[in-house]
Amino acid sequence: MSFSIANLLSQHRTDKFDLHEHYLNAQMVRVLKTIGYDRNYQRAVGQYLYDENDNEYLDLLSGFGVYAFGRNHPTIINALKEVLSLEMPDLVQLDVSILSGLLAKEILTTTPDNLERVFFCNSGTEAVEAAIKFARYATKRNRIICCDHAYHGLTMGALSLNGEQIFRDGFGPLLLDCGSVPFNDLAALDKALCNRDVAAFVVEPIQGKGVNIPSDDYLPEVERLCKKYGTLFVADEIQTGLGRTGKFWAIEHWNVKPDMICMAKALSGGFVPVGAVAMTQQIMDSVFNRMDRAVVHGSTFSKNNMAMAAGLACLEVVRTEKLVENSAIIGADIINRLNALTGQFEFLKEARGKGSMIAIEFKSPSSLSLKAAWVMLEAANKGLFCQMITIPLFKEHRILTQVAGHGMNVVKLLPPLILTQKDRDHIISAFTKTIADTHQVPGSIWELGKNLASHALKAKQAKSS
Ligand SMILES: Cc1ncc(COP(=O)(O)O)c(C=O)c1O
Repeated sequence: MSFSIANLLSQHRTDKFDLHEHYLNAQMVRVLKTIGYDRNYQRAVGQYLYDENDNEYLDLLSGFGVYAFGRNHPTIINALKEVLSLEMPDLVQLDVSILSGLLAKEILTTTPDNLERVFFCNSGTEAVEAAIKFARYATKRNRIICCDHAYHGLTMGALSLNGEQIFRDGFGPLLLDCGSVPFNDLAALDKALCNRDVAAFVVEPIQGKGVNIPSDDYLPEVERLCKKYGTLFVADEIQTGLGRTGKFWAIEHWNVKPDMICMAKALSGGFVPVGAVAMTQQIMDSVFNRMDRAVVHGSTFSKNNMAMAAGLACLEVVRTEKLVENSAIIGADIINRLNALTGQFEFLKEARGKGSMIAIEFKSPSSLSLKAAWVMLEAANKGLFCQMITIPLFKEHRILTQVAGHGMNVVKLLPPLILTQKDRDHIISAFTKTIADTHQVPGSIWELGKNLASHALKAKQAKSS
């Protein structure tokens, strides 16, 4: 019988958890089974996932943002099929490719006019690595500054700019010459840059961990301070880019012009790993400054035809389906309707966000019985309350969401930018019901809470013994 993926899938329909337990990361399987997320998804279309019983799940995680335009988008699939059927030359290496040239040109029609060159790579973290190396080479300085709670990826250089201890612990020593400043703190940034020894300040326009939105003067002042001290301003738009925040790039909310923009995730519609850095011509020319340095930074698979074709198709989809505008409408609707519930629910602090990058934050309640329950959870593990929201949303309402980071009571939504009114109504009614249930103490949701707390305490004890 000839080789067939469809045959393999039908022979191994229920084997994925065993395979992962035996050959990949068994802890991931433990997590999924513990929280009841161990589903056998069989199909995915647009904003929906389907299990073996054809139950429909609304995906508000979008593969950490890569499926901004929905899963299995037909325009992107067609572009990829065309590439395969055309038997194109790919990765010749001692050559340059047409599709990468076309995609670079298209990307630069979306970025501020000071950016005139593009470097391609295979992921978000690789884009950040490139930005670090290029900034060092272009400025002849070593030091890189990032923000507390930043997330820029998990390879060594990007990890050195990671503001969360849990990702860094045990992997050191990391890059020595890195520092961090609080997000949205201009005085701290001024102090960090004023010695004129910093190559780059790398910042997410809206921080992904927690969905932290800066004050209106922050990024314009960042741009001014970076210019003043000769530091390159690098905007990490890996999560916020391509319409996610209701503008094509999040920097457009503040009208700033960084020296580099890192992008990845949605750029290939989730089909092919891809990353890119848009930069000034001066930076590109300073790194690739002689013929013997023409390949001084790069990666074997970067600029591959599948990634480039998917990128071109994605930009077409964003334009023709008006997804930037959609993102703003979808987000405003969800945020406004959730905020209207704050008076009704003590645990609900606020919904915030820009476009379809949304945080729903919870807080300690004022009434005594609820407060005691909250304190019990917080004592076991800070941020545990959020799982009492995300788990019932998934199990009872088939809505897939995530917590926004470690140790915070924030649920995060990164929905595909194509949600319908019906999807939004479903989200609001599911949140309303789930949050209402958390206000019933004792109640079934607090049984889950006690279970979570007991797991968290056991994990803490195991760690300290
Ligand atoms: C802002 C930001 N930067 C960088 C990265 C790393 O991207 P990747 O996972 O593709 O390496 C991420 C991933 O979540 C991100 O959100």
